[in-house]
Amino acid sequence: MKTLSIDLGPRSYDIHIAPGLLDRAGEEIKKVCPKAKRLAIVTDANVEPLYSARVEDSLEAAGFDTGLFTGPAGEGAKCATHLAALWEAMMEFGLTRTDAVVALGGGVVGDLAGFAAATILRGVDFIQIPTTLLAQVDSSVGGKVAIDLAHGKNLAGAFWQPKVVLMDPETLNTLDDKTFSDGMAEVVKYGCISDREFFDFLVSHPSRPEIMANIEHVLYTCCDIKRSVVEEDERDTGRRMILNFGHTIGHAYELAGHYEEWTHGQAVAAGMCAALRLGLDLGVMDSDDGIQALTDLLKALGLPTQIDCPWETLVKAIGLDKKSEGSDITMIFLKKMGQALPTKMSKDAVLKHLQAIYGR
Ligand code: GLY
Repeated sequence: MKTLSIDLGPRSYDIHIAPGLLDRAGEEIKKVCPKAKRLAIVTDANVEPLYSARVEDSLEAAGFDTGLFTGPAGEGAKCATHLAALWEAMMEFGLTRTDAVVALGGGVVGDLAGFAAATILRGVDFIQIPTTLLAQVDSSVGGKVAIDLAHGKNLAGAFWQPKVVLMDPETLNTLDDKTFSDGMAEVVKYGCISDREFFDFLVSHPSRPEIMANIEHVLYTCCDIKRSVVEEDERDTGRRMILNFGHTIGHAYELAGHYEEWTHGQAVAAGMCAALRLGLDLGVMDSDDGIQALTDLLKALGLPTQIDCPWETLVKAIGLDKKSEGSDITMIFLKKMGQALPTKMSKDAVLKHLQAIYGR
């Protein structure tokens, strides 16, 4: 088993990575929640038939009473209506303040279950068992939990760190190729922002079988980069912004496709390419070394490197971006491949340069 420890003082926790870990979830949770009697397992309709019985068996073998709360699959589940239903169901189950919530699934399940855990009874312990690549390398680590509002994604939320994160790479075997490559966009992002050697490793392993043959190394490296960023900036007021490389323009693509045409990873992939072109155009990037390699890598992984987007949507997304403050925005560029460079600039300047790139 590979283990990473996130040092956040009283909110510190471990991330364990091991094949077959689902069957040992009970013993691992017992170590971090010794007082808990009841565990509310939150999952979705896709994951439940695949993995819930194994997790329930393991938790019950460790002496816990379990309740299973299965919501619909998809982003639509991350809403106030489902959250309220979950709160009521947890009360019906008899959850108390010393009990805990277990998120079993992808990012939507983790965000919803985590926000329920952060708010029910003014906060109970929370365990992440992420089953998608995106959730394993990104959303299950770092404590961001949220639901969506009509005004936008993740607008009601909290920072609520898990007690432990249990990653079983074997759960990735049941993902379809599109969902796997969705997570690969975030994997590639880590190489771009922080680790040239890891980027080069990905360039020389540009397919799902090659990644799966090295999956523990890939998960560990991504989580280790996220660990260092979150330890420095848990509340996302500074360095954590580098995790949003490709996301500002990516959000425009998601918005343009009404969150249906493009997955998050697809939008981030094309967003990273656009951010690189913009960084080069602005002269913040030292050289174009790595840009062609990134484009080739993303293509090999089945991800888009360019997405058409109405100009008005780009303007709207830049205005709505969470990194925007008044007339300025912090854009995440790369100084060079493997090194992120947050750059505060006026939104007008971003749009002017984007306009030149888009030829409008
Ligand atoms: N997914 C970005 C972050 O955790 O800050």
